[in-house]
Amino acid sequence: MKGLILSGGKGTRLYPITFNRAKQLVPIANKPVLFRVIEAIQEAGIEDIGIVIGDTGAEIREAVGDGRRWGVRVTYLPQEAPLGLAHAVKISQEFLGDERFVMFLGDNVIQGGISGLIRQFASSDWNSQVVLTAVDQPQHYGVAELNEQGGIRRLVEKPRNPASNLALVGIYMFDHNVFRAVNAIKPSWRGELEITDAIQWLVENGYAVHPYVHRGWWIDTGKPIDMLEANNRVLAELSHQVEGYVDRDSKVDHLVTVERGAEIINSVIRGPAIIGEHTRIVNSYVGPFTSIFHHTHVEDSEIEHSIVLDHSKIVGIPSRIEDSIIGRDVEVTYSPIKPKAYKMTLGDHSRVGLL
Ligand code: G1P
Repeated sequence: MKGLILSGGKGTRLYPITFNRAKQLVPIANKPVLFRVIEAIQEAGIEDIGIVIGDTGAEIREAVGDGRRWGVRVTYLPQEAPLGLAHAVKISQEFLGDERFVMFLGDNVIQGGISGLIRQFASSDWNSQVVLTAVDQPQHYGVAELNEQGGIRRLVEKPRNPASNLALVGIYMFDHNVFRAVNAIKPSWRGELEITDAIQWLVENGYAVHPYVHRGWWIDTGKPIDMLEANNRVLAELSHQVEGYVDRDSKVDHLVTVERGAEIINSVIRGPAIIGEHTRIVNSYVGPFTSIFHHTHVEDSEIEHSIVLDHSKIVGIPSRIEDSIIGRDVEVTYSPIKPKAYKMTLGDHSRVGLL
């Protein structure tokens, strides 16, 4: 069996964080979402992984490399434009050949336990297996209507009047018959070849499509709020450990990870939280559900329920920072220089909430 990860797209809903970086590389609990997807596929025993890339391809190639780090072989498959998930399957035909494969969206985070499901499909005679989960707003997703026997009756992409609350999560399994489907369907109203339409084509033409309903959590990290939510979920399930330095004046509870080379000085860290490699936390409070990435400096400040990326600096902030995503190489500091005022250099698409 092979793996196919879709890692194109511009990530516009996460601007400015993804203005010049691939959304799949934004870390959740200090590990890029894409790396978590590679690990899930590798755990299912798959060694051959194709990654479909777009405009941000160079950055993805640099971060993932040849896959040796995970014991897998990675092949990059450039897609000339984001023309849909079924289009991505189409351009991957040569790489996939006649093998069964699992397709993952590179920006989705799902609670563990998917590897067994992939293995099960590998040895089944189904033509496809789709993963569904109950959601609050099904109209934003591909939606499945099941029949009395629990089989699939119909799949519709972003229906105005959803027939159920079961959304297609970004994990699909196929055999080679999917190529007939992607070649038969036409682009949707949004101009994309929809994978949902391809699976509906398989159902209509008598192929065996098996639905699996996932009961754990699943997050499509499209918007900043989703990033924070995914960060909460992953931090809560992480097995925490302290590898960095914590001085005697600090308090760090058992739900905190302190990565190699990090230093906690005279600070309180309340988990679940993670402090990245070579990051320094000095005279500060870091509250629950916070991920601070590598080489960042936090001093005389308080931060909670937030994600901070690498090489940033947060110093001397008089009120607590909450519900925030702070990018790379950002400085948030107290300025004593008169006039007493907020002084900002914010990039395009930035968002600031002031007291
Ligand atoms: C895509 C699929 C949709 C699926 C969703 C999961 O939507 O088309 O069927 O439910 O991913 O994240 P998109 O993100 O392209 O709007």
